[in-house]
Amino acid sequence: MKISEKISLKSKNTFKIDVRTSKFVEITKSDLLNFCDLINENREKILVIGEGSNILFTQDFDGIIVKYLSDEIEILTENQNEIVAEVGGGKIWDDFVSWCAERNYWGIENLSLIPGSVGASPVQNIGAYGVEVSNSIEKVNYFNFEKREIIEISNKECNFSYRNSIFKNDLKQKGIIVSVQFKLSKVAKPILEYGELKNMGKNPSIIEIRDKIIQIRKSKLPDPKEFGNAGSFFKNPIISKKQFELLKSQFPQIPSFIFNGQNVKISAAWLISNVETKQFETENVALSEKHSLVIINKNNAKGKEILTFAKQIQKLVDDKFKIKLETEVNIL
Ligand code: EPU
Repeated sequence: MKISEKISLKSKNTFKIDVRTSKFVEITKSDLLNFCDLINENREKILVIGEGSNILFTQDFDGIIVKYLSDEIEILTENQNEIVAEVGGGKIWDDFVSWCAERNYWGIENLSLIPGSVGASPVQNIGAYGVEVSNSIEKVNYFNFEKREIIEISNKECNFSYRNSIFKNDLKQKGIIVSVQFKLSKVAKPILEYGELKNMGKNPSIIEIRDKIIQIRKSKLPDPKEFGNAGSFFKNPIISKKQFELLKSQFPQIPSFIFNGQNVKISAAWLISNVETKQFETENVALSEKHSLVIINKNNAKGKEILTFAKQIQKLVDDKFKIKLETEVNIL
């Protein structure tokens, strides 16, 4: 366990914000107890990061940032129809999706190319193209700093909802997700509800679906290698049916996704596309030309500049549509 001090985080967050952390450490499973002793001794502020793909740093971090590296995959059970695989939290998410696609294990192929780690995937319940990761998670193994042991958290206990889970609430920064158990189908289960997937024919292979998703993402979302970004900056708002009817009567083109009882999910990208954001863009910060839900770092933007721009967008949307956009990205 080697602790680095006062290092730049620029290469450790996909927004490419150049701030510093007092301490940074990478650990594996065998370091968990030592790490726990260290933080208890020093009573430091802790931040667990994966690939840093959902964070906006607005200042230096005064504490210790820990990255968990263990990334092994183990098949725990297997029968004719399904497998249960346990995957180390440090595994790169898309490497795991690719591993599944190569073996015809169905369930997460629509989540291809999402940046981040397996350990981060349950935290915000990553989702795309009609699938959420919570649909495939059996349980999460969580090293709890206070209990100094790994506890099992069942799917139900994870309290998953749209871009949310217990790990963003009661268990926020209380421990590390050391592994995730996934139940995957060996029987083909294509989910082709999303617009551009509908015309894939009846029985596309898992690889065809993965390739299509990769193609869609590349065409719709900016590559963090080109411009720093953290994917969707805001969540799609969920509003009451009543509020939706009112909005729809004023703005008939507004796209909506789900009618869940009394609620409707509407498109944040559409709201943002329909306010005057250009006036607030700077040489460093702008909306992506590919997708208006994604804020990009065009130069060497400071986190605070990005946050200011995000707040201006929130105000424009609130003024015009009376909707408060919530951030999807974790702001520190
Ligand atoms: N739209 C616009 N302007 C744009 C882009 C989209 O008006 O610039 C409208 C279009 O009408 C489009 C609708 O918004 O039909 C929805 O767009 P899209 O299909 O791209 O999905 P999204 O709701 O904007 C969500 C996720 C994405 C995920 C896609 C695909 C959230 C916050 N974002 O975006 O996730 O890839 O669905 O399923 O739920 C992420 O979380 O970082 C992320 C990229």
